Amino acid sequence: MGLSLHMSIVPVIMMVVSLQVWLPLGCLKEERTALLQLKDSLNYPNGTSLPSWKKGDARCCDWESVVCSSSTGRVTELDLYRVRNGELGDWYLNASLFLPFQELIYLDLWDNQIAGWVENKGLTSMSTLFLNNITSFGSSFQTLLQSLGAFPNLTKLGLGYNDLRGRILGFLNLKNLELLDLSYNTLNSSSIFQTIGTMTYLKILRLQGCSFNGQLPISQGLCDLNHLRELDISSNDLSGFLPPCLANMTSLQQLDISSNYLKIPMSLSPLYNLSKLKSFDGSDNEIYAEEEDHNLSPKFQLEFLYLSSHGQVARAFPKFLYHQFNLQSLDLTNIQIKGEFPNWLMENNTYLQELSLENCSLSGSFLLPRSSHVNLSILRISMNYFQGQIPVEIGAYLPGLQVLLMSDNGFDGSIPSWLGSMSSLQLLDLSNNALTGRILSNNSLQGQIPGWIGNMSSLEFLDLSGNNLSGPLPPRFSASSKLRYVYFSRNKLQGPIAMEFYNSSRILALDFSHNNLTGRIPEWIGRLSNLRFLLLSHNNLQGEIPVQLYRLKQLTLIDLSHNYLSGNILSWMISAHHFPDQYTYYDNLSSSQQSFEFTTKNVPLLYRGSTIQKNETNKSNQKLSNGSSFQMSLQSLGAFPNLTKLDLGYNDL
Ligand SMILES: *[C@@H]1O[C@H](CO)[C@@H](O)[C@H](O)[C@H]1NC(C)=O
Ligand SMILES: *[C@@H]1O[C@H](CO)[C@@H](O)[C@H](O)[C@H]1NC(C)=O
Ligand SMILES: *[C@@H]1O[C@H](CO)[C@@H](O)[C@H](O)[C@H]1NC(C)=O
Ligand SMILES: *[C@@H]1O[C@H](CO)[C@@H](O)[C@H](O)[C@H]1NC(C)=O
Ligand SMILES: *[C@@H]1O[C@H](CO)[C@@H](O)[C@H](O)[C@H]1NC(C)=O
Ligand SMILES: *[C@@H]1O[C@H](CO)[C@@H](O)[C@H](O)[C@H]1NC(C)=O
Ligand SMILES: *[C@@H]1O[C@H](CO)[C@@H](O)[C@H](O)[C@H]1NC(C)=O
Ligand SMILES: *[C@@H]1O[C@H](CO)[C@@H](O)[C@H](O)[C@H]1NC(C)=O
Ligand SMILES: *[C@@H]1O[C@H](CO)[C@@H](O)[C@H](O)[C@H]1NC(C)=O
Ligand SMILES: *[C@@H]1O[C@H](CO)[C@@H](O)[C@H](O)[C@H]1NC(C)=O
Ligand SMILES: *[C@@H]1O[C@H](CO)[C@@H](O)[C@H](O)[C@H]1NC(C)=O
Ligand SMILES: *[C@@H]1O[C@H](CO)[C@@H](O)[C@H](O)[C@H]1NC(C)=O
Repeated sequence: MGLSLHMSIVPVIMMVVSLQVWLPLGCLKEERTALLQLKDSLNYPNGTSLPSWKKGDARCCDWESVVCSSSTGRVTELDLYRVRNGELGDWYLNASLFLPFQELIYLDLWDNQIAGWVENKGLTSMSTLFLNNITSFGSSFQTLLQSLGAFPNLTKLGLGYNDLRGRILGFLNLKNLELLDLSYNTLNSSSIFQTIGTMTYLKILRLQGCSFNGQLPISQGLCDLNHLRELDISSNDLSGFLPPCLANMTSLQQLDISSNYLKIPMSLSPLYNLSKLKSFDGSDNEIYAEEEDHNLSPKFQLEFLYLSSHGQVARAFPKFLYHQFNLQSLDLTNIQIKGEFPNWLMENNTYLQELSLENCSLSGSFLLPRSSHVNLSILRISMNYFQGQIPVEIGAYLPGLQVLLMSDNGFDGSIPSWLGSMSSLQLLDLSNNALTGRILSNNSLQGQIPGWIGNMSSLEFLDLSGNNLSGPLPPRFSASSKLRYVYFSRNKLQGPIAMEFYNSSRILALDFSHNNLTGRIPEWIGRLSNLRFLLLSHNNLQGEIPVQLYRLKQLTLIDLSHNYLSGNILSWMISAHHFPDQYTYYDNLSSSQQSFEFTTKNVPLLYRGSTIQKNETNKSNQKLSNGSSFQMSLQSLGAFPNLTKLDLGYNDL
């Protein structure tokens, strides 16, 4: 036994050793040689670009602009944007210099004054050429396109973002192309489809943002591309109905026609014969309901369906949805469906991960699936007319929920302890409901903040502002807490700021303003080393401002005004450069912008995103009480390097 164990370990050790020898070398000798030739060519006759590409240095994967595969060590990306010095004149690219790079998938040659390709036989076997966004230059680019004809075996070609403007005739004989990306060029659909029509092996076609207008280009032969698997023709100006001939594109697996002006029936009937269709994005078009939703069942089983729109009327869930059981993601945002909550969607589609039904005029109560659905992680049902209580079992039936947005509905009752059982939850929005229980912003919540909220280990963002909450702040947040944003403003919270955060560097924002908090500002706030926003105004805090606050080097906004801090008023206004990224992330998810109100010179200001507005409607000009002494030396302000604006007006310094 012992012996065989040893034997099996030995090769493992040897492999590790040999990997260590091989990895730092990074790239193959032939690729290194080719890179140096490429450098010479780019610098011809006397340029000095790419200085880190040195002859004696074997580790070419570490050279600037070079990316290698971590598994094979071969060069995969060459980012040669604007490498050639403009004074050197035109560059005649010898394309066979790229031949050794067999795994090259990304080649950026933008702005190198390419005046043409040097003709070369060796190149003809090249199969993949991504020249997206290489140039917008004039006649020399035409030369380049024409020379593409010399690549008979080319199967993948990217020419996106090149400002082609119709100059595309050069690659007429690229009959073997399987992938063609022409996105974000201004194209003439007639002439482009004449060319594309000859590419009988084409599987992937990207034509988004090509300024196509009028009808879908069917008379140009779109429907004849019956070998096409992926078609992206989104972000154009196409209009009109979906033509019946789409039914002939029977190989289609992915179809993206989003962001046009197309009229798409909610039933999706023109697509029923596309038996291989897995993903359809028709969002941001004119979705309409037909007079009669027929009972035909589609041949497709969709996995991804996006139909969010600008507020069209569908009247009911389309019947074809009852026949889908592979959905992973469904978005019907802003379509007026006027039904009940479709718990059957969860029951039918066990792989469903994301369901977005915001602003769909749905009503009734929130219905759970009949059995537990473990895959659903994002549920958005804000801005509907749901009523009644949120079922206590939600945590047990939807245990995988990470994002739950239920704001702007008519949910009532108390928020039960189910919140504590939702261990995956990262974002919860229950604001603007009729909840009378215990939590979340702009409801009529009363009572104390329950202690178990500190045990919700995935929660990063907790907004309980604008309720009627009373009692003390929750005493502790558990060691596993991921909480970063804590908003308790505009409640009736009392008592001292006595809380415990185990990981004190995580907290980015504390807003306890407009409460009835008493006692001193605790010294431990100085340990919240990443704190950016500290809002404690409009409370009954007393005593001196602790010197520990100087440690908060990241602070961009602090408002301690309207307290009894060594007298009366302290208002620092700092125009913050930016909100942290994480904040923006939540902003996007909840589609509602978080804002702070804070005070400077006694004028309430509103901080929203990165702009600060004066709240003109609130001009209350409270008098400062006399004798207030502000006990902070001006020198100490140097401790806040990132304060960009400091306002100590209306204090008694
Ligand atoms: C290259 O040579 C030309 C002509 O000799 C000279 O004007 C230019 O400064 C040189 N450029 C560099 C980058 O050495
Ligand atoms: C192009 O590069 C290849 C490989 O380095 C070389 O053999 C060939 O001579 C070059 N062609 C021209 C015209 O410079
Ligand atoms: C093109 O590919 C075919 C089939 O793989 C091969 O026989 C032929 O030699 C290639 N042509 C060139 C010019 O590399
Ligand atoms: C195109 O290239 C320019 C310059 O490198 C870059 O700024 C721009 O973001 C690129 N556009 C796209 C869509 O990649
Ligand atoms: C588009 O191409 C067709 C056929 O090549 C041509 O008849 C038409 O004039 C072109 N349209 C525009 C706007 O250039
Ligand atoms: C599908 O293609 C066939 C053969 O080209 C054609 O006869 C038929 O009319 C097309 N179907 C539709 C609905 O356009
Ligand atoms: C869809 O296919 C069925 C049978 O395969 C055929 O009868 C029907 O005409 C097709 N529909 C369209 C719109 O092509
Ligand atoms: C909700 O949908 C209605 C129409 O159904 C639309 O007018 C409104 O703009 C949508 N609301 C939001 C916030 O998108
Ligand atoms: C989906 O749910 C509806 C309503 O419960 C049901 O009638 C239908 O049979 C289900 N479909 C599938 C594919 O399970
Ligand atoms: C704030 O707390 C103090 C002391 O407990 C109390 O006297 C006062 O009435 C409270 N104010 C409000 C508005 O609740
Ligand atoms: C000040 O802000 C800059 C840029 O936002 C940041 O890189 C730097 O770390 C900040 N300084 C301190 C001491 O936090
Ligand atoms: C401005 O202040 C008034 C009065 O306090 C308040 O009603 C209003 O909501 C504030 N506006 C904003 C945008 O916060």
